[in-house]
Amino acid sequence: MEVPTTKVPEVRDITRMERIGAHSHIRGLGLDDALEARQVSQGMVGQKKARRAAGIITKMIKDGKIAGRAVLLAGQPGTGKTAIAMGIAQSLGPDTPFTAMSGSEIFSLEMGKTEALTQAFRKSIGVRIKEESEIIEGEVVEVQVDRPATGTGAKVGKLTLKTTEMETIYDLGTKMIESVTKEKVQAGDVITIDKATGKISRLGRSFTRARDYDAMGPQTKFVQCPEGELQKRKEVVHTVSLHEIDVINSRTQGFLALFSGDTGEIKTEVREQINTKVAEWREEGKADIVPGVLFVDEVHMLDIECFSFLNRALESDMAPLLIMATNRGITKIRGTNYKSPHGLPIDLLDRLLIISTSPYEEKDLEQILKIRCEEEDVEMSEDALTVLTKIAQETSLRYAIHLITSSNLCCRKRKGTEVDVEDIKKVYSLFFDQGRSTQFLREYQQEFMFNEEELTPSMDIS
Ligand SMILES: Nc1ncnc2c1ncn2[C@@H]1O[C@H](COP(=O)(O)OP(=O)(O)OP(=O)(O)O)[C@@H](O)[C@H]1O
Ligand SMILES: [Mg+2]
Repeated sequence: MEVPTTKVPEVRDITRMERIGAHSHIRGLGLDDALEARQVSQGMVGQKKARRAAGIITKMIKDGKIAGRAVLLAGQPGTGKTAIAMGIAQSLGPDTPFTAMSGSEIFSLEMGKTEALTQAFRKSIGVRIKEESEIIEGEVVEVQVDRPATGTGAKVGKLTLKTTEMETIYDLGTKMIESVTKEKVQAGDVITIDKATGKISRLGRSFTRARDYDAMGPQTKFVQCPEGELQKRKEVVHTVSLHEIDVINSRTQGFLALFSGDTGEIKTEVREQINTKVAEWREEGKADIVPGVLFVDEVHMLDIECFSFLNRALESDMAPLLIMATNRGITKIRGTNYKSPHGLPIDLLDRLLIISTSPYEEKDLEQILKIRCEEEDVEMSEDALTVLTKIAQETSLRYAIHLITSSNLCCRKRKGTEVDVEDIKKVYSLFFDQGRSTQFLREYQQEFMFNEEELTPSMDIS
């Protein structure tokens, strides 16, 4: 007789899904201890001067030496401005707030432009709040709850707690009796009681009761009987942003709005009250301000009202560091008829430290493309990489980066293991870059709709 076999369900390999974004290969600024940029490090390649400058800024932010200042990353499209800002964010670590937004975002939110900017500013300022709470921590020696003989009236109870050095009996009120019963506190448990809220938490069973092990089962956690005094002070530190405090305290929305992001406009009075309160906490040593970073990409999309708001906002004593990026040359300031460098008003430009990025050389392009291949798990032959680098030089780095994914697809369709020159050629002929598309329009513009406008050679489509 055949032995029936049970099929073991296949174990699927669960790999964590990581989103591959345009900048997901950037893990920092790639600097050494002296803040010099390494040629290739942490996903960053070349652009050494700008990276070193960014490193110095990052160091100053970490030391808390810079706030209320502004930095502008300026350079041609695709020269790594956004990448450097992401590198700064990565090297700051989780304790310093970093908010990133794009200039055009402020026009699409359901709130005024200056409100959107104010919220962005306040998201970038952290408040580190120190809270001291008094707790009672000890091992339970005895719990005693008595019902009144009459059956009515309040229960009375006593709780005996000890540490290795002392033992005390506490009288329990009705509320405490309830918590004790709810938590099923019994002799041998090690517990803490928060004196302000009366909240009881069980830390585990005392080691002296280890012989109860069989009765308690294997989930039981055993801990040492606490030492020293029964009453202790505990310091807890939370970091929240000013914006979070605003939202929690604006009565109409409450804290749930933080999850939906739908915070609406916040009243000026609320903000003023919070500023006063935070100033008080600072005086009393209960809180510290952690100025963070607000990164506004594509800053030329802001208009003159926003720029004058920024000018003012940077002067407040609770301002973060503002980092902006733009790829515009001399162009109109939005909302005016005046032209200005980078599309920013001169008075704002005057307050800025400007870091400029320059176009990449061949070997940098090749290295960046190689890193992107690794990031996207694409095997590419040496020759193909050389061709792709040529394409990057002649068209743009971004276009070449896009070809990596599509050429890999071509390679997989022909069951190849490695992207080679043919795959690159194929996708190059399938997808146009900006130059060839413009060329195509020039030749066939008669056949398109709305063609009365002459295409100018310096058409700006970035
Ligand atoms: N030095 C670098 N090292 C590694 N990757 C880079 C570097 N510079 C740019 N990249 C990558 O090249 C692509 C284009 O760069 P990025 O988006 O930073 O350009 P940009 O200067 O912000 O351009 P734009 O002005 O159009 O916004 C991104 O995927 C970016 O991560
Ligand atoms: Mg960018």
